[in-house]
Amino acid sequence: MQATRLSLFAPATIANLSCGFDVLGLALEGVGDCMHLELTERPGVEIRKVSGMDLPLEADKNVAGVAALALLAKSDYKGGVAIEIDKRIKPGSGIGSSAASSAGAVWGLNQLLGSPFSPEQLVGFAMKGEELASGAAHADNVAPALLGGITLVRSTDPLDLARVHCPKALHACVLHPQIELKTSDARKILKTTIPLKLGIRQWGNVGGLITGLFTEDFGLISRSLEDGIIEPVRSLLIPGFQALREKALEAGALGFGISGSGPSVFALTHGPEKAHKVARALDEVYAGFGIPFEIHVSGISRQGVRALDSTPIIT
Ligand code: HSE
Repeated sequence: MQATRLSLFAPATIANLSCGFDVLGLALEGVGDCMHLELTERPGVEIRKVSGMDLPLEADKNVAGVAALALLAKSDYKGGVAIEIDKRIKPGSGIGSSAASSAGAVWGLNQLLGSPFSPEQLVGFAMKGEELASGAAHADNVAPALLGGITLVRSTDPLDLARVHCPKALHACVLHPQIELKTSDARKILKTTIPLKLGIRQWGNVGGLITGLFTEDFGLISRSLEDGIIEPVRSLLIPGFQALREKALEAGALGFGISGSGPSVFALTHGPEKAHKVARALDEVYAGFGIPFEIHVSGISRQGVRALDSTPIIT
């Protein structure tokens, strides 16, 4: 018999990966939100509860609600869904808080309906949530959250996604300064045109990063983790960015950059030991800044959103 409720884990994500603004992203293994979904006879989406953060309960104002409504609009199912969100990723953190909610909502609902939609179609629905959150329907967070691993968004219209090989040794270290930076604001400050010279360097890096990942050439990965377009602008909003970068690279990071639209920053490393070493170095830098922060060391999630065994708490 088809289950009518489930619990799931929706991972945090690092979008952009330095050179790949709006096109590259990866899913983290141990950082994310939990959600509980239950099919209801009443049509539509009911956000029953959000714990951990203060977020709207109106379905059309909540990213999970908007994403689930987009799926229901394309489905034959006549009922609705109730959603409960246990938020552990702070909105405005730069590690895909809205994407986790949107991706979790559509993945869970699709499971409960017997999987009528493909992962790629789910990305399309989840992008509606991203549009509500940031004013732009980008897919570089929701794609890795739903497909797992590292993803490339070749195009959003029409949607064309590719899975990128992720070397097993690849690990991430994320430092999240506890200041809120809205993606919509971090997008407004960007220039809309770039000099050709910068474009050439950037697409050289995107090609280099993808090739380095597929061939597990960590030297090439390291040289390609560079962003000459977005980072020079956005890094000004992140206290201590240059000092963090210097120490991360000194500690052996393959590369260092802004996670999504910030304020979180990330480093990629070859192996977990290096990731922990980078974490200690970042911790030392930030200890003197007077800004509360969290540091996560994580592998890359192969799976993206996944079901949890625990009993749903919707009553
Ligand atoms: N690519 C998006 C941006 C990701 O950088 O604005 C937002 O998390």
